[in-house]
Amino acid sequence: MSFPPPPAFSTSRREIPISAPRFMGNESKYVQECLDSTWVSSIGRFIGLFEEGFARFCDVPHAVAANNGTSALHLALLGCNLQPGDEVIVPTLTFVATANAVAYCGAKPVFVDSEPRTMNLDPALIEAKITPRTRGILVVHLYGHPAEMDSILAIARRHKLFVIEDAAEAHGARYRGQIVGGLGDVGTFSFFGNKIITTGEGGMVTVRDPEKAARIRMYRGQGMQTDRRYWFPVIGYNYRMTNIQAALGLAQLEQIDLYMAHHRTVASWYAHYLSPIAGLITLPIEESWCRHAYWLYTVILNDAVPTDRDQLMRDLAEVGIETRPVFYPMHVMPPYFEPDAHYPVAERLSARGISLPTHIGLTEADVAYVAGHLMRLCSR
Ligand SMILES: Cc1ncc(COP(=O)(O)O)c(C=O)c1O
Repeated sequence: MSFPPPPAFSTSRREIPISAPRFMGNESKYVQECLDSTWVSSIGRFIGLFEEGFARFCDVPHAVAANNGTSALHLALLGCNLQPGDEVIVPTLTFVATANAVAYCGAKPVFVDSEPRTMNLDPALIEAKITPRTRGILVVHLYGHPAEMDSILAIARRHKLFVIEDAAEAHGARYRGQIVGGLGDVGTFSFFGNKIITTGEGGMVTVRDPEKAARIRMYRGQGMQTDRRYWFPVIGYNYRMTNIQAALGLAQLEQIDLYMAHHRTVASWYAHYLSPIAGLITLPIEESWCRHAYWLYTVILNDAVPTDRDQLMRDLAEVGIETRPVFYPMHVMPPYFEPDAHYPVAERLSARGISLPTHIGLTEADVAYVAGHLMRLCSR
């Protein structure tokens, strides 16, 4: 990794997507095997191999593949026996699937504000939101930075709550040395095309307790009892992953170290090239107790930048740079609207945050190009 001086960047136009998957290993070979063998639905050797490999990767005894990260979340909550009328603590600043999965169970997501350094659920604000109906805490490792799990797990123990980690955006991130997804009762992952590794659409549930794992498998397969064909003791779902998705997933998992390392390299390039405007934008931090996955390198415009965030994104798009705004907090969205609520940290991060291109295909020159234009636009 070599660093030329920060302000120097080529202005010749580039097209830089926010995310872009790459298939550089056994993907074609494994998918071709599915086609040749005709095992294209949810039976086939790749499903077991991907589940076992992912369980090993997360250092948990069980992993259950699902058809996407949202169904993985729903299965995790069903695995924890969430019931209609229950409440679950959820960060207001997250992707909508986190809150929706709680609502699918007939339960209520109860929102908590973020802490500004990592953008994650602020543990200091959780206990004020716990009621006799609270059953669990659904933590999100937002943009790849692990949440502060020790405090969250201690609160959960005190109040006898389950903890689910939504690690959709945090493949391979570590909290105090331990890989995320194995810290709480259940973990969930997404393998959508913009994630660190992808199966096109896909998800995974990671779990320690064998009974929960069995329940999650039952709900995934229409609720069928494993030892009695076509006998359905519960109303389940068809949330199965296909053998083709798992074939892609296994091949991607074989290269995950490469993907993870490149996301971190891209982050170090951004930190370097954006250092001249460190007073104008807040760069993502990595707390000493963790290893950030840097799913998307997300910066926050300080008040000193007079430009409107959305205008800045349009200006970046003009020069070929695709970006994303930080998610809207859940409490402003119609299904979850809280007219009198104020979550100041999440509101500010949402209004001023921009995710920059972060993916395996980015070169140092691409990052210098993005940083150069961002500096130009912020310093106008
Ligand atoms: C935090 C978070 N949770 C859940 C999901 C849902 O995953 P999927 O899109 O695979 O359903 C996403 C997806 O983007 C996410 O970012």
